[in-house]
Amino acid sequence: MLQTQDLTIRFGGHVAVNAVTCAFEPGTLTAIVGPNGAGKTTYFNLISGQLKVSAGSVQLDGRDLSNLPPSARTKAGLGRAFQLTNLFPNLSVLENVRLAVQARLHDGLNLWSIWSDQRELTRRAHEILESVALADKQHMTVASLPHGDQRKLEVALLMALDPKVYMFDEPTAGMSHDEAPVILNLIRQLKQDKTKIILLVEHKMDVVRELADRIIVLTNGSLVADGEPAEVIASPVVQEAYLGVTNEEAVS
Ligand SMILES: Nc1ncnc2c1ncn2[C@@H]1O[C@H](COP(=O)(O)OP(=O)(O)OP(=O)(O)O)[C@@H](O)[C@H]1O
Ligand SMILES: [Mg+2]
Repeated sequence: MLQTQDLTIRFGGHVAVNAVTCAFEPGTLTAIVGPNGAGKTTYFNLISGQLKVSAGSVQLDGRDLSNLPPSARTKAGLGRAFQLTNLFPNLSVLENVRLAVQARLHDGLNLWSIWSDQRELTRRAHEILESVALADKQHMTVASLPHGDQRKLEVALLMALDPKVYMFDEPTAGMSHDEAPVILNLIRQLKQDKTKIILLVEHKMDVVRELADRIIVLTNGSLVADGEPAEVIASPVVQEAYLGVTNEEAVS
């Protein structure tokens, strides 16, 4: 189980995430919704360790991760989609995925195991690239990929790590209409594995309605609603949170 206890961060006088206490169980996809600037991405950054908490804690299976750097949290099972800055832009798509699979399999460099695992690494990397529909672009350098494909690659790298907790922050943002379903299908598949905890920040309410087992709502850094999707979407607090956007956007 993943838990945040009174999780808080202040930027100067501004409290971006305010004492958020919440627990996430395996086999559950939780959508995190709320208006722009509500603190959703910051909440992820606190969980993954990109930002240091001002107060509160993050725990995974009873282990306090709050003081660990991002790399140690990844090793502990927290999977945050790579930012492109974490990639090797001049290496091919395939090489990047192979390196991620390798990082998952080995703690350090061991030439013997690297040699013997070459085939297995390549096989797994291919499998992942197929699943995100990037197999035909495997030999392109990351730097030359169109934006939508770079987003797919971020998800591919996350899959390569095989984490316990998957954190997706607007995974289809910037993707075309034909590209988005690839990622949504992948998340649907991941949901079949009942040992995984999936967190999804998503503005598109149709996606949320279809995928989420549970919705939590952040507004001004605070957790203001938590429950079954239908119930939360219908609640005044969500209607209010989305008051800033048009009705059409809120329901589409
Ligand atoms: N590193 C930072 N330094 C200062 N302020 C920050 C920093 N990161 C986030 N903030 C502020 O924290 C608040 C929450 O931002 P955050 O990006 O988490 O919102 P969000 O819910 O992800 O919004 P969106 O839906 O637009 O992605 C905003 O007011 C933002 O300006
Ligand atoms: Mg955000």
